Amino acid sequence: MGSFRDQKILITGGSSGIGRLMAETFAAEGAQVILWSNERVPLEAIDKELGERGLRCATYLCDVSRPYSIYDTAKRVIAEHGPIDVLINNAGVVSGRPLLEITDAEIRETFDVNALAPIWTTRAFLPAMIERGRGHIVTIASAAGLIGAPGMTDYAASKYAAVGFDDALRAELRHLGHREIRTTVVCPYFISTGMFEGASTATPLLPILTPEYATRKIVRAIRRGQRRLLMPRTVILVYLMRLLPVPVFDWIARALGVTRSMDGFTGRRPG
Ligand SMILES: NC(=O)c1ccc[n+]([C@@H]2O[C@H](COP(=O)([O-])OP(=O)(O)OC[C@H]3O[C@@H](n4cnc5c(N)ncnc54)[C@H](OP(=O)(O)O)[C@@H]3O)[C@@H](O)[C@H]2O)c1
Repeated sequence: MGSFRDQKILITGGSSGIGRLMAETFAAEGAQVILWSNERVPLEAIDKELGERGLRCATYLCDVSRPYSIYDTAKRVIAEHGPIDVLINNAGVVSGRPLLEITDAEIRETFDVNALAPIWTTRAFLPAMIERGRGHIVTIASAAGLIGAPGMTDYAASKYAAVGFDDALRAELRHLGHREIRTTVVCPYFISTGMFEGASTATPLLPILTPEYATRKIVRAIRRGQRRLLMPRTVILVYLMRLLPVPVFDWIARALGVTRSMDGFTGRRPG
């Protein structure tokens, strides 16, 4: 895909962080962006801001932790805009605390938003993509979908699920002869959007990424139809580390500071 002009691009969690930056970038290239979020105020703010700049944006209040909210909103989107060209599963939540300090409800929400919502949205939009013979499904997962760390049991498990979903979906689409439907999975280390406020890195090999840098790389990966984007590139070391015995793997993770990365985590501050 060379240009995003006139493409219909749906972004879940599109009212803040990299979702919002992606929306601005795609809209500035002439795409029609369709943004979902569960908070009315930030959605209205981006709608107004992009509208004032003459960019095409439509917003929908949708709680992606609820499958029926997803299916209902998807029906409205298809009725009002027709089939979607690019679906970006970006909404995400993190609790950031040890397993025994989080509630069952928090764990369930983490899975609902990070792992299950991409499956429901894909089931909602894929049939129309197959019918037209084109489409692109993007999963914003995480480096935590490749390597776990303390304070991330629920988050890492949900992102492993998201990575597994993309992997199997890509294979299944090919197997069923739908090669024209592309998939991209994105696995970033920390990005300074506020979601992981207080998380840290101990090595220049794994720098904390700026939202602008992460967004540029994601947009480029989608444009190129890249199947997997690891950010920074050194995240690829995880695949090599997996070839080593588990104690050596754990020792390297400790040496890189991955195991201490969530010690100072506070998460997004209210407001
Ligand atoms: N920041 C990082 O370090 C990092 C690293 C790796 C991967 N990621 C992933 O990147 C994606 C974007 O994160 P970000 O850093 O840009 O953080 P963010 O600004 O907090 O974005 C997350 C978005 O998801 C939305 N969301 C959460 N629960 C929702 C729900 N039930 N229904 C609808 N929308 C919901 C949020 O909307 P509200 O704020 O209105 O709830 C927000 O717009 C996430 O999937 C995250 O896991 C982030």
